[in-house]
Amino acid sequence: DVLGESVAIYNVDGELFATHNICTHAHALLTYGWLDGHVVECPLHAGMFDIRTGKGLGAPITCDLKVYPVRINAGKIEIKRRDG
Ligand code: FES
Repeated sequence: DVLGESVAIYNVDGELFATHNICTHAHALLTYGWLDGHVVECPLHAGMFDIRTGKGLGAPITCDLKVYPVRINAGKIEIKRRDG
């Protein structure tokens, strides 16, 4: 959780990505899903998102996912929320 917001962090070959953790289709946590390259598959109905952009990749997803800038600073993972 980042200030009360559930965030999923992904490591793809050493590069970090961060998205909102709750699927936009229904209430499922993407951290319980499967990651294949830059695509995360939701564990509930198999909806898929590109974790680089948050773009939904077809049915049943109709809304994209929020993404967040992420970096490592002094050994800690930092997430930038839109509100700063
Ligand atoms: Fe994620 Fe339905 S809850 S695809």
